[in-house]
Amino acid sequence: MGCVKFLLAVRHCPSCGERGVVMRDDLTAGKTDPMLSPDQTIYVAGHRGLVGAAVVRLLQERGFHNIVVASHAELDLLNQSAVTRFFESTRPDVVVFAAGKVGGIHANQSYPAEFIYENLTMGTNAIHAAWRSGTKRLMYLGSTCIYPRMAPQPLQEESLLSSPLEPTNEAYAVAKIANVKLCQFYRRQYGVTFHSVMPTNLYGPGDNYHPEESHVLPALIRRFHEAKLAKQSQVTLWGTGTPLREFLHVDDLAAAILHLLGIENPPDLINVGTGEEISILELASLVAEIVGYSGKIVTDPSRPDGTPRKLADLSRVLATGWTPVFSLKAGLINTYKAFLHEQQHQIQRVSPGEHG
Ligand SMILES: NC(=O)c1ccc[n+]([C@@H]2O[C@H](COP(=O)([O-])OP(=O)(O)OC[C@H]3O[C@@H](n4cnc5c(N)ncnc54)[C@H](OP(=O)(O)O)[C@@H]3O)[C@@H](O)[C@H]2O)c1
Repeated sequence: MGCVKFLLAVRHCPSCGERGVVMRDDLTAGKTDPMLSPDQTIYVAGHRGLVGAAVVRLLQERGFHNIVVASHAELDLLNQSAVTRFFESTRPDVVVFAAGKVGGIHANQSYPAEFIYENLTMGTNAIHAAWRSGTKRLMYLGSTCIYPRMAPQPLQEESLLSSPLEPTNEAYAVAKIANVKLCQFYRRQYGVTFHSVMPTNLYGPGDNYHPEESHVLPALIRRFHEAKLAKQSQVTLWGTGTPLREFLHVDDLAAAILHLLGIENPPDLINVGTGEEISILELASLVAEIVGYSGKIVTDPSRPDGTPRKLADLSRVLATGWTPVFSLKAGLINTYKAFLHEQQHQIQRVSPGEHG
């Protein structure tokens, strides 16, 4: 066995069921990415976010040395002329567009105007400027949240726009669908390979732990951690606890993104997930176990549940040769360690985002 530092997860082989150890090298080495080369200039938009940071980490590990980044303070993606100037001066060969306004049900319901305006505007600004400056390859971060509420499960890419959206995140979904379509139409009209990846719920190092606006998994990690420290006798979950969700470690997504950028003719959109689902209540119990919280977990059915079930169909992505390597338990252990590290070094993200 190699250095313990690089041990990431223990997985069961999907065909024989045997347990195998996943090493960091499994994510980073031995991959042939014919369309991607370390000499290309790659702009990662949103590099301080959960996804963007994971993509930059993996690019660096793979020896990419022309990685272009700009923080929100350096480049406001809502500012069209600034975005145009940025692309004219950097002229990236490849763009990974991982910037966005993201959040859980509460944030989506409270700030629909910002969710539609910001996601729509930053995407259109960057996609158009990328095309104008000669970028040939762009990966846009969509989401499985943007499929219709009652789309057949597991969610197939063909379900996009087939029936009404989930009302709690409609604003976010409409903006993201517009940008997925923008990529599709620029590709069709101008021959540029602009395509989208549709990840399921993500988690991992560098997540946002804001108490009201974070996603369900970072929210659970924070609440159980705080409940443990405060010796609280019970923790209340929003909703019934019955919705089924799928969770993908962000390092698995980063590996999928680079893998898909290496494919010559990728589909316009492609789901990325684990194919495994868990109820919110079961997830809460698993998080409580990993965090070391031993109190009671109760549900609050007066709060909204969101979509009842959300599982991605992975046929397309598995056919390209990519598979996830993290089990949920191993990924959560890795993430809780990162949570403690981020807290200890005061680098934890608890930003609520700007509203107006
Ligand atoms: N997290 C998930 O579970 C999940 C699941 C499926 C899809 N996705 C998609 O993946 C993408 C990335 O998500 P994430 O979880 O990595 O989000 P995140 O952690 O919140 O990161 C978003 C990044 O975008 C930047 N940003 C926001 N507004 C900006 C602006 N006006 N100008 C410049 N930068 C701006 C943020 O910078 P500041 O923090 O400095 O504002 C941040 O670095 C999003 O498109 C999201 O929809 C996420």
